[in-house]
Amino acid sequence: MKEEVKNLKQEGINPGLAVVIVGDDPASRVYVNSKKKACEEIGIYSEEYALSAKTTQDELLELINMLNEKKDISGILVQLPLPEHIDEEIIINAINPKKDVDAFHPVNVGKIMFGNYDFVPCTPAGVMELIKESGIEVAGKECVIIGRSNIVGKPQAMLLLHENGTVTICHSKTKNLAETVKRADIVVAAVGKPEMITGDMIKEGAVVIDVGINRLENKKLVGDVHFESAEKVASAITPVPGGVGPMTIAMLMKNTVKAARINRES
Ligand code: GUN
Repeated sequence: MKEEVKNLKQEGINPGLAVVIVGDDPASRVYVNSKKKACEEIGIYSEEYALSAKTTQDELLELINMLNEKKDISGILVQLPLPEHIDEEIIINAINPKKDVDAFHPVNVGKIMFGNYDFVPCTPAGVMELIKESGIEVAGKECVIIGRSNIVGKPQAMLLLHENGTVTICHSKTKNLAETVKRADIVVAAVGKPEMITGDMIKEGAVVIDVGINRLENKKLVGDVHFESAEKVASAITPVPGGVGPMTIAMLMKNTVKAARINRES
């Protein structure tokens, strides 16, 4: 990405990312800091807008409108979750789809459904990159996703489907979760429940990708997968921390570079 940013600048295109954080959720603060640091490392200009938890929805909309117009900003990222008095959907809808580097806007979500898209949501994109770089074939494989969020589960299903996987999405109402997971050649855990997927639920030789980041009472960070038991049966597995997390950030950088090209053309 560093190389690509350099080339981009030689073409006269300067990528810029605006990161908006509302309130003081400690996890969000950590994520936002990592995103800013990644920008710095690869030469992307970034601006942070840290707003108080009392910010009104109208004030936030006003900021987004300003960033939509701002020439040196190619990508806008509003860190989620937002405080309860702010409607996330209204905020996401207000972001110019051409600057929506998270790919949360309905226009971008729709494009992902069609399989013809500019921006891919960062976490599912990171998962796909890990699979690809590890030489794992998706076509024809049983892919089981645990979790149906708009940020991970749903777009992840589409991306695996586009690669010709046979995809199942499990959620809180799924019957026989353990049985379903046991069928999987590729497991993507994205529920936010510490260590709920255990080794006995996983088929010998399966690929296990852990999207969860949960902080236990003793402050330890763990995934949605019980690593020690799953590692014994999986042919490949991602750790937490240090697995999917850094990939999410890398994909955000990729989307920001793409946004810079798109916004130059328009
Ligand atoms: N909160 C948790 N994950 C994400 C993400 O990928 N993007 C944003 N904007 N907020 C998040």
